[in-house]
Amino acid sequence: MDLGHAYGLGEAETTAQLLLPVFFNGVAGIRANLVSSFARLDTISAEDREELREEALAALKKHGGLTRESLEEMPKMESFVLEVLRACPSPMFWSTIATRPTTVEYTTESGEHALKVDQGRFLGPDGDARRKHHVIFHGRLTDTPAVNNHMCPGKDVSLSALKGSIAIFNTFFGWELQEPPVWTGTKMTRGSQPDYEVKIKSFWVQHPEDLNEIFPSHFRDIIDKEPNEQDRRRRVQQQIKELRKFEMYKSHLFKVGSEVPIILLINDEYGTSKGGISTINCQVGQTIGATNAVVYATALRVPKQDQEAANRDGVQLIKPRQAIRRRETYYEQADLITITHVLPEDTDYFRGSLRAIKASEKEKDMLDIVDNAKAAFSVGPRIYKHFKTKYKGKKKPRGSKGHQHGRKRSGLALCD
Ligand code: HEM
Repeated sequence: MDLGHAYGLGEAETTAQLLLPVFFNGVAGIRANLVSSFARLDTISAEDREELREEALAALKKHGGLTRESLEEMPKMESFVLEVLRACPSPMFWSTIATRPTTVEYTTESGEHALKVDQGRFLGPDGDARRKHHVIFHGRLTDTPAVNNHMCPGKDVSLSALKGSIAIFNTFFGWELQEPPVWTGTKMTRGSQPDYEVKIKSFWVQHPEDLNEIFPSHFRDIIDKEPNEQDRRRRVQQQIKELRKFEMYKSHLFKVGSEVPIILLINDEYGTSKGGISTINCQVGQTIGATNAVVYATALRVPKQDQEAANRDGVQLIKPRQAIRRRETYYEQADLITITHVLPEDTDYFRGSLRAIKASEKEKDMLDIVDNAKAAFSVGPRIYKHFKTKYKGKKKPRGSKGHQHGRKRSGLALCD
């Protein structure tokens, strides 16, 4: 706090400054290593796993639950966790330590390509001696994090969280993964994760009697409380929502990574909640969204129904300001394609005298926008014919007379 005050920060700002790195490092560090530790558990033999279980069960029973004392009586578990952190470290962290090129030797079992995990490596006097070579926390395991060495201050918290989580799950529960985890290749961005996302196929309480003895109230929560139909439905809906969000995010990353077109649709709304032209805008989104392009669309207001339509079509809605910033920052050379869906001189006559007077000005503005665009589409033959003639003048799309934007029986088509 004093340091924060010295820099002119109030209590709230100083607290935020402190919490941000803790949460950021903590969430990322723990999340990644928790998944890889559980995945590694799947690669050791049933006997080794049982050995970890027996040790944890004895400590949990002796101290009546997961306490500091019980964690201290799990040396095998600690050795396993340290070995996982050694065997599949995040290269991001390594890069701050291994300043010289390093070759890690590992044994390949034919067909499995699994880096062998020796869960006893950090046990006994030999194991203790090895701890000074374990540098996953940006310093030796035997060193203490301090303000001037930038070692991970979350070292002990992380080890306790990893040990404790595996102790609980491996002691009472059973699960089956969709596929056995493997770590192959040298992909930097993998972090410590196996080649494929770790997915659980099934999960069950393996030792209910032990669970009931040590955690009776949790046992009742888990075993007795069958969710009612409404709860179950709500939970499934929530899961579907999360999954959709995740799939969109993943497909976005995947598409961006492989350099496919990124398309920004400029509309004031997405979806068909208002009817009219928004239906065409939405169909453009659907048509392009069905290709491998990444599609963004601007929207001023997003009613729930429109957001659902965007989720369904794989279109990401953004605010106009975000769109401008994105274009200026990343896509200065972006091509412009216009879709004309209105003939102002035809329709504005019906929308009041002021509009009717301004109709020709509006058409001039439209031609200004089309001028030098990469391509221009018109919706339907009438608008297409009108603008085909207009494009014979000075203002026209690059090297083209324009395209017609038509409707096929199966939906919308962009055609010549
Ligand atoms: C297994 C889990 C974790 C691993 C492997 C890990 C590893 C690391 C490493 C290598 C650094 C140094 C990064 C650098 O300087 O480039 C670091 C920094 C840091 N970690 Fe962790 N970390 C883990 C979990 C946590 C947790 C749970 C917390 C908080 C509760 C945390 C808080 C921090 C903070 C605040 C820093 C910055 C320290 C500084 O620059 O002085 N970490 N961590």
